[in-house]
Amino acid sequence: MDVDAIRKDFPTIRAGQGIYLDSACQSLRPDCVISAITDYYENYPACGGRSVHSMATKVSMAMDETRETLASFFGTDDPDCYIFTKNCTEGLNTAAYGLGLKKGDVVVTTDSEHNSNHVPWLYLQENLGIERRIARSDSEGRFDMESFYKCMSHGVKVVSVQHASNVTGCSVPVKAVTEIAHDFGAKVIIDGAQAAPHMPVNLGDLDADVYCMSIHKMLGPSGMGVMYGKREVLEEMRPLSLGGGTVGLATYDSVNLAPIPDKFEAGLHDYAGIVGTKAAIDYLSKVGMEEIQLWDLKLMRRILSNLEDVRNLHPVGPTEAAYRGGVFSFNIDGLGAHDIAMMLDSMAGVMIRSGMHCAHPFYVSRGIDGSARASTYLYNTPEEIDIFTDTVRHIAETFGD
Ligand code: ALA
Repeated sequence: MDVDAIRKDFPTIRAGQGIYLDSACQSLRPDCVISAITDYYENYPACGGRSVHSMATKVSMAMDETRETLASFFGTDDPDCYIFTKNCTEGLNTAAYGLGLKKGDVVVTTDSEHNSNHVPWLYLQENLGIERRIARSDSEGRFDMESFYKCMSHGVKVVSVQHASNVTGCSVPVKAVTEIAHDFGAKVIIDGAQAAPHMPVNLGDLDADVYCMSIHKMLGPSGMGVMYGKREVLEEMRPLSLGGGTVGLATYDSVNLAPIPDKFEAGLHDYAGIVGTKAAIDYLSKVGMEEIQLWDLKLMRRILSNLEDVRNLHPVGPTEAAYRGGVFSFNIDGLGAHDIAMMLDSMAGVMIRSGMHCAHPFYVSRGIDGSARASTYLYNTPEEIDIFTDTVRHIAETFGD
């Protein structure tokens, strides 16, 4: 992977706008994504899937091309199974509310879920009477197969787990989990927000029923997500919103829903975002997901080895790079997470995230207020990592307890 060449494709890097270590929140965007968006607005800013004039037809075709690109990138052969959403959260909510769960149905999650894969289930427990079971992770935040297995029984209707944590970086063995869940007759929903940008994901091989992701963490436009579902699952699933574009025919008294993907895509869409999605996925394909995964690992090894002797610094999660993906969460004795983040930015132009990272139950259950979090991607360099770790060391030694 030619990181120097990659860096030349990113305007904020070319402009020297600091060291961006917040890609688990939202990634930077390369020129090709920005050009695709601009091209849409400049040359064919019409709607898709409705009007039949030439400009609109171009939009409809661009939407089809993005779905085809996604299907090929994720190892499946049915582009209609890729639903455009505004983020991963919307996909997860669509699945949670759309599967037709009833009082007493059991849903299994883990104790490390992002709020997007936690709060909808909690809401369904409080308002519909579903039962939730939570698989506990080990003391370092790694998935514990035994605990998961104990949650399983034939009453379980849904297993909904993250593919990788946005706090610890730990991955869930989703293929094994899917096989087990299917053996018990449960459907499987995967929150792929943190995994899809950082590792090869073959949805055909994985066999999960639903897989959601955030395109804005994958070099794509803000406000774009994708929900993949197996055809038969999507055909049964109820949409979250209804309206224009989602129906075959509506009369005053009746309606029949359009086939997938249309029944899930109510109203006009973020067409610029959809064409930008194709550009982002093409870019990732060209670089190669195996390469990106290895690069994150190399950078994580460097972070951990550079900081291992800082006595008052405590990583949240495992200290072995192989478990962490591109996510390094940490605390320093005597300092708040936001203070660490602000110091890194003002002292060295290093941008990280701080707080509870929308994974509140993980922190609350461990009695931690939050953490600072640096997250890497294909455009970060070992030199940037050294600036980050040197500055963290200085902050810990100078201002920590
Ligand atoms: N869920 C995103 C993060 O972890 C926003 O930062």
